[in-house]
Amino acid sequence: MAKKTQQKKIKTIGVLTGGGDCPGLNAVVRAVTKTAINRYNLTVIGIYDGFLGLIEKRMKILSYNDTSNILTQGGTILGTSNKANPTKFPVTLDGKTCLRDVRDNCIRNAEEMGIDAIVAIGGDGTMCGAADLAKKGMIFMGVPKTIDNDLPGTEVTFGFNTAVVTATDALDKIHSTASSHHRVMIVEVMGRYAGWIALHAGVASGSDVILIPEIPYNLNSICEFVINRSRHGKRFSIITVAEGAREKGGKMVVSKTIKNSPDPIRLGGIANKLAYEIEKETKLECRSVVLGHIQRGGTPSAFDRTLATSFGNFAIEQLMAGKKNRLVVRRHGELATVALSEIAGKIRTVPADHQLVDAARAVGTIFGE
Ligand code: F6P
Repeated sequence: MAKKTQQKKIKTIGVLTGGGDCPGLNAVVRAVTKTAINRYNLTVIGIYDGFLGLIEKRMKILSYNDTSNILTQGGTILGTSNKANPTKFPVTLDGKTCLRDVRDNCIRNAEEMGIDAIVAIGGDGTMCGAADLAKKGMIFMGVPKTIDNDLPGTEVTFGFNTAVVTATDALDKIHSTASSHHRVMIVEVMGRYAGWIALHAGVASGSDVILIPEIPYNLNSICEFVINRSRHGKRFSIITVAEGAREKGGKMVVSKTIKNSPDPIRLGGIANKLAYEIEKETKLECRSVVLGHIQRGGTPSAFDRTLATSFGNFAIEQLMAGKKNRLVVRRHGELATVALSEIAGKIRTVPADHQLVDAARAVGTIFGE
């Protein structure tokens, strides 16, 4: 019979926040720390700036008090980084910079701090890093974070709801100025490869046109639609566009490339491009607004606070039950886990036949095809 290897008893937990920040990170850090201390009397070590803190050994014990009063705070008290990739970390030797696999340094640093397992709170890049470090023997439990809501395996990530509330609030404000000036207002929201924010905020605000990466648009269809609206007395239109939306056969609008980032492409500019093209074509006055990082900031919504708290608590319960290298997820409203190796490197996009896409179409919104 194959010998079963006994998992080491967990006494010390590390916790890190990786990738782009998002509302609710502190709520997870708090739930992880308080559950670990209250229920299991564990030592909790905060790792600074995502995997960078593990690579550079920047960590500190988190006390119960350190995580008091942070539930409602945006951002992350641990700091984050979306560039630190433990398998490809830039190291400069004799004036030359090359990418090195520094996973062994991470394992050594964690061992020296007495860390038995790490709760990694992050999105796709962080889960890929965790899956890579797990291959070297580190134990992880992932918690799904991202305003983009595009992690596979879970029906929702924390941070998404707050971003949608922020974007909807902005769109509601745009509505009154669009209507007063009889303009076409084009509002760009985040979402590189997945249009979840645009879809939800677009529906919530009653946008006339929603453009998402999953459904490439046709400029003529959009122009005809807004002209038709103005002919029928609707003298303004609101277009919600995801930053990753593109014209059929066209390319996404890239604003910059970030060296050493696991996903180096940064998007931005599609709203501006559309405003120029629609105004030229229709002669209707157009304006563009880019919401950008406002969607990632501020206090988390009540929904995200509760989701983050239950995710953080569940992460510790699962580790203590002997589960490892899995991602906490929510499916049909219930908490569960999936293997990190199953989801690493994949993203969850909006299916073209999604119920909300259909509902939007039913109330007269177009997707620009
Ligand atoms: O993945 C989260 C996200 O906010 C995306 O929606 C956006 O494209 C990207 O991060 C922006 O990254 P940065 O903070 O590096 O500008």
